[in-house]
Formats: sequence, structure tokens, C-alpha cells
Amino acid sequence: MKTKRILVQSVAGPYLVVCGAGVLRHTTKEFAKLGRFSSVHVVSSAKVWRAIGKSAQRALGVRNRGAVHLMNDREAAKNLRTVELLTRDLVKGGADRKSLLIAVGGGVVGDVAGFVAASYLRGVALVHVPTTVVAQVDSSIGGKTGVNLPEGKNLVGAFYPPRLVLSDPEVLRTLPEREFRGGLAEIIKHAVIADAEMFAYLEKNMEKVKRRYRAALDYLIPRNVAIKARVVTQDERESGLREILNFGHTFAHALESVTHYKRYQHGEAVAWGMMAAALLGHEIGVTRADDVSRIVSLVRRMGPLPGWPRVPAGALLEAMRSDKKTRDGKLRFVLTPRIGKAASYDGIPLAAVERVVCFAPHFFCDSGQVNA
Ligand SMILES: NC(=O)c1ccc[n+]([C@@H]2O[C@H](COP(=O)([O-])OP(=O)(O)OC[C@H]3O[C@@H](n4cnc5c(N)ncnc54)[C@H](O)[C@@H]3O)[C@@H](O)[C@H]2O)c1
Ligand SMILES: [Zn+2]
Repeated sequence: MKTKRILVQSVAGPYLVVCGAGVLRHTTKEFAKLGRFSSVHVVSSAKVWRAIGKSAQRALGVRNRGAVHLMNDREAAKNLRTVELLTRDLVKGGADRKSLLIAVGGGVVGDVAGFVAASYLRGVALVHVPTTVVAQVDSSIGGKTGVNLPEGKNLVGAFYPPRLVLSDPEVLRTLPEREFRGGLAEIIKHAVIADAEMFAYLEKNMEKVKRRYRAALDYLIPRNVAIKARVVTQDERESGLREILNFGHTFAHALESVTHYKRYQHGEAVAWGMMAAALLGHEIGVTRADDVSRIVSLVRRMGPLPGWPRVPAGALLEAMRSDKKTRDGKLRFVLTPRIGKAASYDGIPLAAVERVVCFAPHFFCDSGQVNA
């Protein structure tokens, strides 16, 4: 087993992301390094636990069934009510200040359990065992935790870094197809903003990646962890560099918002968003045409996407204006001057964004994919 150990620096101290196929079968030593805990509590969801619970339970050495707390991991249940249910369950399960919480699941479980760990008894130790591509390459690293309010996503939360992250690509076998592909969009994003070599790898090996070949995941997961780790280590509180992780996301959030979060899996919206951001880069003279073409081709090879929504361009522009990532109402976008690099650009002319929004559905149109 080839294991990679990637260090992430945070204000609360450094922590390791240990990743590689089979990592979950060798956890004893990793946990021993964290010290002793009065009890161990696993937070997961019924769906995740059905898929990988047996092996996770063995791997994490959880013998007491009462120490497994299952939550609803639908995005609609990522709220304060679930936090209350979980924390009350922890009280019933006897969790105290010296307990360890292990979040086993995708980004929803990680975000909620992370926030619970941050606030239960003013903070208990947290370990992430991410089980989706998004959770492994993105949400488990960087310490952002939180839940949604009816008024918006992730409005209540805390920065709360884990003590350890254990990422095992083997658990991705049971992940539904659409979720896997959604995660692939974030991997392509990392390639565009920070890793031209990985971009070329994806161009060469997309079919193997989509079939989840072991060698492909062994290459991609640690490489993506390293990218996210590097960015958040340099800018934990999102004052600058971390912003590049939003490549494609201003368009994506607008697409998700105008379709009331029902049409797209997040990664699918990001896929559209990255193609639109590439085009916008070209519109304002930042991104070269051949890079736009490479980005669009690679994204398209992820597979079919739900079409661009049939809404007036104005509705999308309005959604972008109210996105919390815009500063002082001015449109600000992460663009790529060349594959492998990205930066934020301020004061983008509204007319350029409008042209992209009007043009995108036609530009990317093929066999019934758009406006399906
Ligand atoms: N904290 C951060 O920095 C950060 C970053 C990105 C995303 N997020 C958050 O993450 C959430 C999305 O997370 P996600 O994309 O991981 O999806 P998710 O947590 O919604 O999981 C997707 C689905 O896959 C199932 N699942 C998970 N692992 C499985 C497995 N191994 N086998 C079978 N089924 C499995 C889940 O039960 C769920 O139905 C969003 O709420 C988003 O806001 C947070
Ligand atoms: Zn995203």
C-alpha cells in the first residue's frame, strides 16, 4: 500500500491528511498518535453506513453500537435541527470533553459533524473519514464547517480543523455515478487553477478515471489533497489565495440558485461554470482560445450535463450580483490566464458577463443536451 501523508497548517495547529488505497485498514497507529480519548463517537448517515459501515466499524475499532450516530445527510437536512439532534444524541451516548468524534461520510456529514465537534462542550476532537470525491479532495480539508439556514447555504458555521483526515479511495467504489462525476468537476477545477500536469493526465486518462481505475484514483486523490492543502495552508481564512478555489463557482452558484438547487448536482453546475469562466476569460483577453477549447473539451468528457436553464440572462446576472462572493456589488471572477494558474479579476464589465451568459447555451450545445 502506497500511503501519502500531507500536512496542513492551521491556526489551531497542523494536521495530517493520510491518503491511499487501504488506509482505512491500517488506522490503529494513526489513532494512537492522537493520544487517548474517553470515548469514540462516529457520525455518519444511514446511506453511507449501509454502503461502507461494516468495514468502517472494523477499521475504526468501534465496538459499541451506541457510539454510532446516524444523521440525515440530504442537503435539506444540513441545518441547525440536525445539529441539535446530533448533540442531544451525543449527550445520551455519554460523550464528554475528552471524546473523539469521527465524521464518516460526504461533505454534508463532514460539515455538520464538524460544526457539532466545534460546538459540543465548546469543542471536542474531530477526525474526518471522507467518503465522496468532493469530501476527499475538498470539504474535509481546510476546516470550514457549518450548516444552512432557510435564508441561504452555509450561513452558520465555524473554522474548526480536524486532528486527522483519513482518505481511502477504496470507499469511493460504492459512490453513485452522478456523485462521482460531480467530484470530478472539482478535480478538473484543481487542475485548471493549479496543476497543468494533472490537466494533461486527465486529458489522457479520462476514461480510466471515469471507470474509477485504482491507479487513476491513487494518482488523483493525493494530488488533489495536496493542492487543496497548499492553498488553505497559505490562506486559511479566505483573505486572498483561497479565492482561486472558486473558479467556475460564481456561474455555478447562479445556475444552482435560478434552478432552486433542483436541476444540478453541484459539480454539474461547476462543470458549466468552468466552461463559462473560460469563455469569460477569453472575452476579456485573459484566457487564450486554445486553453478555452481544452477546458471545454475536458469538461464535456465528464459526460452529459443537465442543460443550461431556460431563464433570461438578467436572472443569472442578478443571482451573481447577490452571491456573497461578489465584493461591493462589483462583479469579481476567478479566471485562468493559462491552464495551471488562476487569479481573481475585479471590475469585470457587466456586458462581457452578459455576452457569456447569452452565448454559453449555444456555444456548448449538442444533441439535446441544452435546455433538456
Ligand atoms: N467545508 C467545505 O470546505 C466544503 C467544500 C465543498 C463542499 N462542501 C459541502 O459538502 C456538501 C456536498 O458534499 P458531497 O458532494 O460530498 O455530497 P453528500 O455529502 O451530499 O453525499 C452525496 C451522496 O452520496 C452518499 N454517499 C456518500 N459517500 C458514499 C459512499 N462511499 N458510498 C455510497 N454513497 C455514499 C450520501 O449519502 C449522499 O446521498 C455540500 O453541503 C457542500 O456545501 C463543503
Ligand atoms: Zn464546489
